[in-house]
Amino acid sequence: MVPLKRRKVVSSAVGNNNAADHSGGKAPTKFPQVVLFLLERKMGASRRAFLSQLGRKKGFQVEELFSENVTHVISENNSGEEVRTWLDSQGGDRGPTPVHLLDVSWYTESMRAGRPVQVLDRHKLQKQQIDEAEVVVFSVPSYACQRRATLDNHNAILTDALSVLAENAELSDEDGRGVAFRRAAAVLKALPKPVTRMTQLRGLPCLGEHSLRVIRDILENGASTEVESMKQSERFKALKVLTGIFGVGTKTADRWIREGIYTLQQLRDSGQTLNRAQQAGLEHYVELNQPVTKAEADAVGEIVERAVVSVLPGAQITLTGGFRRGKLTGHDVDFLITHPEEGREEGLMSKVVSWLESQGFLLYQKTTRNSYLESKDGPARPPSNMDRFERCFSVFKLAKEEKRKHPGTLTENAEDTCRPGAHMQVEGAESRLQTGETSQSQVQTGEQRHLVETKPAGHKPWRAVRVDLVVSPISQFAFALLGWTGSKLFERELRRWAGHEKAMSLSSHALYDNTQSKYLRATSEEEIFAHLGLEFIPPSERNA
Ligand code: UTP
Ligand code: MN
Repeated sequence: MVPLKRRKVVSSAVGNNNAADHSGGKAPTKFPQVVLFLLERKMGASRRAFLSQLGRKKGFQVEELFSENVTHVISENNSGEEVRTWLDSQGGDRGPTPVHLLDVSWYTESMRAGRPVQVLDRHKLQKQQIDEAEVVVFSVPSYACQRRATLDNHNAILTDALSVLAENAELSDEDGRGVAFRRAAAVLKALPKPVTRMTQLRGLPCLGEHSLRVIRDILENGASTEVESMKQSERFKALKVLTGIFGVGTKTADRWIREGIYTLQQLRDSGQTLNRAQQAGLEHYVELNQPVTKAEADAVGEIVERAVVSVLPGAQITLTGGFRRGKLTGHDVDFLITHPEEGREEGLMSKVVSWLESQGFLLYQKTTRNSYLESKDGPARPPSNMDRFERCFSVFKLAKEEKRKHPGTLTENAEDTCRPGAHMQVEGAESRLQTGETSQSQVQTGEQRHLVETKPAGHKPWRAVRVDLVVSPISQFAFALLGWTGSKLFERELRRWAGHEKAMSLSSHALYDNTQSKYLRATSEEEIFAHLGLEFIPPSERNA
């Protein structure tokens, strides 16, 4: 009965002026004084068609074309200013009866009510003057290391798009362009609210012409055609797949693409020579591209800790990288190892690696020696993000959670047992992989089992996890900790700040003051920020 009542009220409210029927002979309209027009801009043609039809079914007069008979203009995601500009372009002055400029919420509420609901303030697109006053004009400091960036992001749509452009530039070895997009994304990520219009961005740092164009595209049309077509590009997709193989960089991927290799299968079929890292990367492709969880990172941490204390009691390990910044997942797990007595850390890495190998925890490892010498590497060298610590790039064989909780079950399956020297089999696989002898029938046990590529995690009791171990002498520990906590952009910005604003050179080993011609020592991250004249930013706020 309610609908009947309502209908009655409405008809008396709008009167019986059927002469105002502008439906042009279509279905009779129930509300002749309400002539609607849905703006396609940002709403899109198909949604507009759908909503128009819905309205007509409910007895509303919804016009296909804009005319001066229209009484209500409905738009979605447009500002009052935008709709007014559009309206002006439709022929200017409409005379004494002003048209309602309404948000789609008025329309959907009216559809639900089955009648035109009362126009409330919240339905109205704001007047321009109010808009101008209400526009939040953002302001952020220039360097990411001056800003506090948590994991929150109110502008993910914009930053995701800019990240695609950054990624594409990096994959094309155009690092300069990549950094420009990363900086622009970091500025948007630092904003306390979503950006709704371009005027809010006035005066913000690091937003170049290209980035602004992409942002405008997204604000106006909901997406950037450049970014969308980039994501679809065969080259971009291939670069992502191929560099997704541990051990494969952009140069190698580019060479393969030039040779017509776009997919993992094509790579396997090609007979390309793969180094040991790449073989492990291909073999464990799926798992190594699966995000590592915090629980898995902690489980790896326990293993590394056991290794470290059993080969050198008193040595300490610290979780660094994204997990130290509070991220819930990561592409790898990073650890920094040191000993409180300077010099005791020497030779530690090889012992730790031997211990891990003897326990069957490593599927792959490659250790690089410490090549840092202050006398040689200090001030003269330009700051670089490649440090020279003793470092182990590894792939761990980590028991799955239920197996970690109930140890013993891991060893029940002989096939998957973590046994000493298990990783050595990967090396044995080298020549065979190159000749392409990798068919399933050959993949049985022992050595050959390791030739299975991209085998899904399936029912194996373990998974492969990328782990980076770094050993630092205690005198450099604070610098190493700061350098390995990231984010990458935060680190880059710290070094840029140091160089450009303070005439200092910062690396993961040391801080050198070029004006005073001396090293500035530090035993904590706080001291380093102080040397740099920066407010201390805790790890959880370094997610630039
Ligand atoms: P990661 O690449 O591991 O990044 O480097 P992340 O922040 O932990 O993120 P995900 O989750 O793993 O993807 C961690 C830090 O180590 C530094 C980087 O600059 C980054 O700040 N790093 C990495 C180096 O200093 N040198 C390197 O050779 C590699
Ligand atoms: Mn990491």
